[in-house]
Formats: sequence, C-alpha cells, structure tokens
Amino acid sequence: MNLDFTEEHLMIRDAARDFAQNTLLAGVIDRDETQSFPKEEIKQLARLGFMGMMVDPKYGGSGMDTISYVLAMEEISKVDASTSVVMSVNNSLVCWGIETFGTEEQKKKYLVPLAKGEIIGAFCLSEPEAGSDATSQKTTAIDKGDYYLLNGTKNWITNGSTASVYLVIAQTNIEKKHKGINAFIVEKGMDGFVIGPKENKLGIRGSDTHSLMFTDVRVPKENRIGEDGFGFSFAMKTLSGGRIGIAAQALGIASGAYELALKYSQERKAFGKEIYNHQAISFKLADMATEIEAARLLCLKAAWLKDNHQNYDRASAMAKVYASEVAMRVTTEAVQVHGGYGFVKEYHVERLMRDAKITQIYEGTSEIQRIVISRSIIKD
Ligand code: CAA
Repeated sequence: MNLDFTEEHLMIRDAARDFAQNTLLAGVIDRDETQSFPKEEIKQLARLGFMGMMVDPKYGGSGMDTISYVLAMEEISKVDASTSVVMSVNNSLVCWGIETFGTEEQKKKYLVPLAKGEIIGAFCLSEPEAGSDATSQKTTAIDKGDYYLLNGTKNWITNGSTASVYLVIAQTNIEKKHKGINAFIVEKGMDGFVIGPKENKLGIRGSDTHSLMFTDVRVPKENRIGEDGFGFSFAMKTLSGGRIGIAAQALGIASGAYELALKYSQERKAFGKEIYNHQAISFKLADMATEIEAARLLCLKAAWLKDNHQNYDRASAMAKVYASEVAMRVTTEAVQVHGGYGFVKEYHVERLMRDAKITQIYEGTSEIQRIVISRSIIKD
C-alpha cells in the first residue's frame, strides 16, 4: 500500500476542509439544536461533486477513488457528521449499489441524478425486528407478474424524508430464507408509501431519520436490482463499502474533537501554565493522536483494497469497529480536556461526543463488525 497521497488527493482533501470550515461550521450548532436538515449545504456538496464522488463521470459522477472519499469524509465529519452521513449513504450505499449492480436503464434513470446530487437516496434494510439479524426481513415483495407488491415497515432510515429514491430490501420467498430476498428501487410518491415521523435523536440531529411504511406498493419488475434472490448479497456487499464511509466519518469526528482539545489545551491556563504542559493532559492528547493515526491507517487500507479490486470485507469491518470506538474514546476525553466548557454547546466537543455514538451502531453495530472479522480470520 502506497502511503503517499497524489496531488489530486490533496486537492480534494483541501476542498473538503475549506467547505467544512467556511460553509458548514457557522450553522452546525443551530442545525443540531433545531434538528434542521442541511439542505443548502448538500446542494453545495453536490456542486463540489461530492454526492457521487466515486461514480463514473458518464453517469454524472466525479470518478474519484475511495481514498479521496475517505479524505473528504474525514474533513467534513470533523465539523458536521449530520451532513457527512447524508453524503456517505448517498455515495457508498445508494450510488455504489446502483452503479455496480443496476441495469443500464436504472443507471440512466436513477444513478445520474443521484450522482449529480440533484436528488438524494436512502438505503432501507433495518426493520423493527431485523436490524443486526438482517436475514429476518419481514417486509415482503410478492411477485405479481410485471410488478411486486411491497408490504412492511423499515426503521432508522437515514434521509428518510429527504430522499427521492429508496433502495428497499424485502423478502420475496420466505422458504428460501436469505436466498429469497431481493432489493428494489422505490420512488417517493408511489401509492401506499408513507413516511413516518422524524426520530428525535441523541446525535447527528441535522440528518433526518424516519420509519417508512409500505402498504400494497406496486414496484415495477424492472426496479428489482440483480437476479431474483440477489438482495441479501446485494445488501452485504453494499454495506461492506458503506462501512468504509462510516469508519471515515468516525475518524473525522475523532480528529475534529482532538484538534479542538489540542488548541484549547494550549490556550487554557491552570496552576500557572497552559494545561498542555500538565502531563495529565498532554498524555491524553498523545493517546488521542496515536489512536486517530491507527484508525486513519485502517480506513485508508480498506479504501486502498477497494480501489485495487481486492476483498475489503474484513478491512472495512476492522476500520469501522476501531474508528468508531476511537471516536467515542477521543470525544469523551476531548470533553474532559475542556472541563466545564466541554459540556456546553459553543465548544463543539459535546456535539461530537453525541455524534460519535451512532458510528458504533449504524451500518452494523460493533458486535456485527466483530462477527464479520471473527468469521473471516478463522478462514486464514
Ligand atoms: N458479501 C457477499 N455475500 C455475503 C457477505 C458479503 N460481505 N456477507 C455474507 N454474505 C452471504 C454469505 O456468503 C451467505 O450466503 P450463502 O449462504 O450463499 O453462502 C449469506 O450472505 C448469509 O450469510 P451469513 O450466514 O453469514 O448470514 P448471517 O445471518 O449470519 O448474518 C451478518 C451475517 C454479517 C451478521 C449480517 O446479517 C449483517 O451484516 N448484519 C448487519 C446489517 C447491518 O449492517 N444493518 C445496518 C442497517 S443499514 C444502515 O444503517 C444504513 C443507514 O441508514 C446509515
């Protein structure tokens, strides 16, 4: 693995940093407080080409690699994880899923506007009784000839109300268990598709998370992704790449909190000197810097494997479990370094601590990542 970034990588990282610091930062506390979706900010991300970063330019994307995606996700997540999760779901779950497994018609109709950021996508796997245990899908899609009849409920859907296109995983043949699962492209506005109320969340409060209800929704047959029965494999493959995005988000949350704590420790004085000069604080910062560097290397390794067409299932699970646990530790310590100031909103670290928690839960909990890793290492 080459650890040197290209000029293009550095340009993308700088553009993301500039956007985060100059556009996202000003309103991030307010969006968190009022649970406001970053609508204008997402439009600007689209203009930067960040909503379909890795999509082939012939389908409206920017044709960048996964390393670039990790660099951009880190910078944006340092400031606003609510914005970066919208970006992550659109890029690595929805765009990647359609580009890799969709038909030419599906790409022209859905991928092009998604990659350009003209519309947003959502990925709908979790259900009230099937989050980690993804094979236990209760949502059904019954084959009716030229369409499928979709019935069921999906939970915790990021971009739940702001999306226009939803990738919905459903059971088409219960007897075949996971081999009877399919993935469908569902459009907002289809008869029988209802969006539930917005969840009032601990963190990433600017992103919109909803339950979705489907009652006798007629999904055209041409909206199925892949061969009959491909849906579970589709979900697993898509989530494997999605985990690189969430690992990079966790990395960004951690590095954002670390940078704030480092700066504060050089300004704040106690017992006659800057608190950085107290070993109790400088050792905390040393540990944060070390763990962040390790998390960054795991993210970049998973991205490098993906870019080089090698298997990245284990690497993405390792990056996600480690980076998300680092995000929790580092943000908690960053609050501690700030003392009482860390507990109030103006100093940003309390929000980063709240945002960090979800990275241990979505796109597979830490426990799920350990299942993926342990099943993989035993095969060595
Ligand atoms: N790629 C391709 N196929 C895969 C795969 C992968 N990465 N992982 C598993 N499979 C295949 C297996 O090979 C197997 O197929 P065969 O029977 O044909 O061999 C099939 O899938 C079933 O595999 P398992 O027996 O391993 O399945 P399992 O029931 O034990 O579950 C699991 C495996 C890893 C725990 C899986 O259920 C899982 O990842 N669960 C977590 C789901 C998840 O991440 N949910 C988050 C929701 S999405 C979200 O959060 C989006 C958002 O809005 C932010």
